[in-house]
Amino acid sequence: MPQILFLPDGRSVEASISESILSASLRAGIPHTNECRGNARCSTCRVLVLNGLEFCCPRNEKEQALAAQLHFPERVRLACQTTVLGNVAVRRLILDANDAGLTDQTKDTTTHGSLGEERQIAILFVDIRNSTKFADSVPPFDVIHVLRRFYHHMDNAVIDHGGHVACYTGDGLLALFGVEASKSACLQAVLAGLDMLRCVKQDLQPYVKRLFHRAFRIGIGLHFGQAVVGTVGGGLQERVTAIGDAVNIASRVERANKKAKTEFLVTEAALREVRDQVHVGKSIDVNLSGKTGTYTLHEIVGIRNGALQTAG
Ligand code: FES
Repeated sequence: MPQILFLPDGRSVEASISESILSASLRAGIPHTNECRGNARCSTCRVLVLNGLEFCCPRNEKEQALAAQLHFPERVRLACQTTVLGNVAVRRLILDANDAGLTDQTKDTTTHGSLGEERQIAILFVDIRNSTKFADSVPPFDVIHVLRRFYHHMDNAVIDHGGHVACYTGDGLLALFGVEASKSACLQAVLAGLDMLRCVKQDLQPYVKRLFHRAFRIGIGLHFGQAVVGTVGGGLQERVTAIGDAVNIASRVERANKKAKTEFLVTEAALREVRDQVHVGKSIDVNLSGKTGTYTLHEIVGIRNGALQTAG
């Protein structure tokens, strides 16, 4: 059977001709990073083939696509997609102490998987309208004061409906619903969004008007789609986050509110999940920056009776 020499571990492992390099290293207890668990979706298992490139199988379609995207030289191969017919020597390329700690497969993972998992989730962006204008017109301490009040309400709306705040953007936030598999992720997100609007109307708008004689409005965008969900940060700073095109779409949907003169827009994919439970206002066809084709977005104006029970 072929031998694979792993560096910098200095370990030699026997592998059958049908076993991937990744599978051989993991079987031997080598801490080989594999964020997407061998699906050619991440590139973290990459190795540099030092000797025996001629014994490596040709790149398959999935590896070829990733290699082209990341401009891999010929000798850099995805360990999860590569089998060998003869002896080879490879160097693992993602391996420092930080990497090892962050991607340790043996440590407990949270319910949402600290290493990252592809999930169908509801992604909600909320943003303060004209925040730059507001920040320019009142003292910085007052801006912070208003932001604290704003985030307090937004956080509560997200948490009350089972979501996670993934990150703060300076004048808004990104929230995720359905991280712990939920059949009503979109409905939870819609309810959170409507709560946010309610808090703005009932508390923040009159408050900012009274203190600063300024208007205060927000825009919300919601999309339902596939994203890689994982945790980042450590200890008390650990947060769930999501990466993927679906996140970019949600952000652009939020921005579309400005042109549409709406407060809460959702994509067709999100509406499909909650159609019977919400009241829809206007529907508009828009081009989202950086995306091809036209997207139909729908304004959410309220919730139907009975929807709350479904969300619970
Ligand atoms: S483990 Fe992700 S590409 Fe190999």
